[in-house]
Amino acid sequence: MYKKPIVVFEGVEGSGKTLHIKHLSNFLKKRKIKFIKIREPGGHFNSEKIRKLILNNKSKFHKNTDLLLYLAARNENLQNLLIKNYKKKVILIDRFTDSTLAYQHYGMGININLINSINSFLLKNFKTNLTFLNLVSKKNMKNRLLKRKTLNRYDKFKMSFYTKVQNGYLKLYAKNKNKYKIIDSNKSILTNKKIIISEFKKLTK
Ligand code: TMP
Repeated sequence: MYKKPIVVFEGVEGSGKTLHIKHLSNFLKKRKIKFIKIREPGGHFNSEKIRKLILNNKSKFHKNTDLLLYLAARNENLQNLLIKNYKKKVILIDRFTDSTLAYQHYGMGININLINSINSFLLKNFKTNLTFLNLVSKKNMKNRLLKRKTLNRYDKFKMSFYTKVQNGYLKLYAKNKNKYKIIDSNKSILTNKKIIISEFKKLTK
């Protein structure tokens, strides 16, 4: 269906998305399929600079400042990496526009229309093809966060915040189910690896 799809991985802290994206990128490497992989915030050198600023434990920004920084980081990725490689290489993205809706709107209450309109202004014709939405139980989320050696500024919210964010993701899913494949991150790593690779294959058939 898509020769060079754009695949996004979304989910709260501890939902396994970073591991899942690693499995898919290893699969692509083995098959010698050209791809780029980025994370948000971060990715391009300029976006990584903004990432450090947002997630630094010493930063104390207002939520609107965070929003604008996340969007600024996204624009650097779009201008320097994503538009250039659009439909030329497979693109894997660890968090994208849904993160901004889940965290800044559903988690922090910033106006959804404002976020949608800035995202559309930045993305223009750039469209993603599939989003793996990684879901995790409260218990596993808590355990996985506790195991992290270093915690950044966004790893330190109350559990109730992450619950709001995950519920936000589910609301986005309910609005547009075709865009997503749900991954139950409470299941085994191997099971999910197989699902993700088989969904990717379906996408490129
Ligand atoms: P990471 O730890 O998965 O790399 O993500 C960093 C944090 O940034 C994570 O807590 C989610 C948050 N974030 C937002 O709040 N809004 C956004 O638009 C993005 C991309 C990430």
